[in-house]
Amino acid sequence: MTLKRKDLLTIRELEPEEIFLILETADSMKEIASREIKKVPALRGKTVINLFYEPSTRTRTSFEIAGKWLSADVVNISTSASSVTKGESLLDTGKTLQAMHPDVVVIRHPVPGAPKILADRLQASIINAGDGAHEHPTQALLDLFTIRERLGRLEGLKVAIVGDISHSRVARSNIQAMRKVGIEVRVAGPATLLPRFPEQLGVEATTDVEDAIADADVIMMLRIQRERHGPTMLPSLREYSRLFGLTVERVKKAKEGVLIMHPGPINRGVEIAPEVADGPYSLILDQVTNGVAIRMGLLYLLTGGQRTER
Ligand code: CP
Repeated sequence: MTLKRKDLLTIRELEPEEIFLILETADSMKEIASREIKKVPALRGKTVINLFYEPSTRTRTSFEIAGKWLSADVVNISTSASSVTKGESLLDTGKTLQAMHPDVVVIRHPVPGAPKILADRLQASIINAGDGAHEHPTQALLDLFTIRERLGRLEGLKVAIVGDISHSRVARSNIQAMRKVGIEVRVAGPATLLPRFPEQLGVEATTDVEDAIADADVIMMLRIQRERHGPTMLPSLREYSRLFGLTVERVKKAKEGVLIMHPGPINRGVEIAPEVADGPYSLILDQVTNGVAIRMGLLYLLTGGQRTER
């Protein structure tokens, strides 16, 4: 099977079978991480450009490692050290990069829809690595991969997503991805940070975090996206932490063995207690590990790779 699309811009555009194709391909790729020589020739002769207009640790590094383990030539552009600082537009930067014949451009940008602007005009495959509060599709894919790896299934599970839902591209992509594979999603957070019309997203919303997590198989905590809203959204971080933070006491009231996720970066003691983040049911570092496998699978499929049935 192949992925019959040039770009990955949103989860919304993916069919469930495409999601499973990416998960299965990532599954084959994951084993490469345990080899002594972490290198396969699948993308030899291909060029991947990482174009990040916002800070990133996990996404940028894992795309770079994924490309290198597949033998692609990987170029990282830090926009603070590029001609963007001299006023070059996104489109001119994109056309400039296209003139050097990359095969894939991975872009993170603060403006929703920026990856689509490049996808509509460049021959290279474009991967959305996060566009404003819109989508972060590869994060949702690695989250599904991590849940399935641990629980062996996706359909029929219950996931509670807690925190700053309305400003979170991770929440938006995850809600869509989870619904497409049959996961029931509940969201919780302060009223000011919840979606106005949760029913349009197909989720239940509540301001009662303990109610939201009571029968969840997985709790996904989110960081407060302070860079995307003004100071009036929250009275104080201390109050937020008291009302919505995931503490050991709250986890004890949830289902036995409930799995804890967070896309990172985490703010210890704000949305999640250190003992929970580092506890036995935390999948936070598994998510990071699986980010490389998902991005390897995606780079492979978008550059024409085929997945053969096992
Ligand atoms: N989860 C995530 O996108 O992390 P980074 O911002 O570090 O890439």
